[in-house]
Amino acid sequence: MTAKEFYGPSFSLMCRAKDQVLDVVEQGKRAWEGQRPVLYTSARIKSPSSMCRKLAQRGLPQTRQAALSQIRDGIGVRVICAFHSDVYRMARWLEERPEFVVLETKDYISRPKANGYRSYHLILGIRAGQGKGMTVEVQLRTIATDFWASLEHQMKYKKKVPHEGLIREELKRCADEIASVDLSMETIRELLARGFA
Ligand code: GTP
Ligand code: MG
Repeated sequence: MTAKEFYGPSFSLMCRAKDQVLDVVEQGKRAWEGQRPVLYTSARIKSPSSMCRKLAQRGLPQTRQAALSQIRDGIGVRVICAFHSDVYRMARWLEERPEFVVLETKDYISRPKANGYRSYHLILGIRAGQGKGMTVEVQLRTIATDFWASLEHQMKYKKKVPHEGLIREELKRCADEIASVDLSMETIRELLARGFA
């Protein structure tokens, strides 16, 4: 089943909501022109199969109505930045927009998950504009942590992971090293900006 079939008449509204959030990110990029606060963005409408899996996991009916009313990441936008300061700057930018209402914030950068996952998550409700009424999940992270998250994510779909404990330990070690490198890079950028180099 295609997403259009599954979400029905709401599908186009979902696409408009996704584009609205991407547009706001674009405006943010223009607001800090020359500083490249965002390296790239991606966005998706959750596929019917992954939406149904999530609904089933939560004990909800696998219907369009449940998907639209109970699941808040049917529309997802990812914002990839070079530095943590840019992540926070873009998060503030989105949070302060009057057309959005912040329904939830999860700062896994200041409080990483036990596996080492670091990202800033926002659930935004759209109260005005082309995506009015929709809810969008925004994930903001650095490019280095995005690289980590894409590899770590692969574990979720593997039924049996050989040497799982060891791999999880290694991933955690890599996550912490990446966080340390992100911090050093940020410090170097600040020093360069102040002309101390
Ligand atoms: P769901 O995980 O979406 O059911 O909701 P939640 O309430 O647990 O939200 P959370 O903000 O923790 O996670 C939302 C999304 O962030 C997930 O669907 C993933 O895309 C991503 N995410 C969260 N934790 C991890 C993680 O440990 N590793 C990776 N690779 N991605 C994660
Ligand atoms: Mg989760």
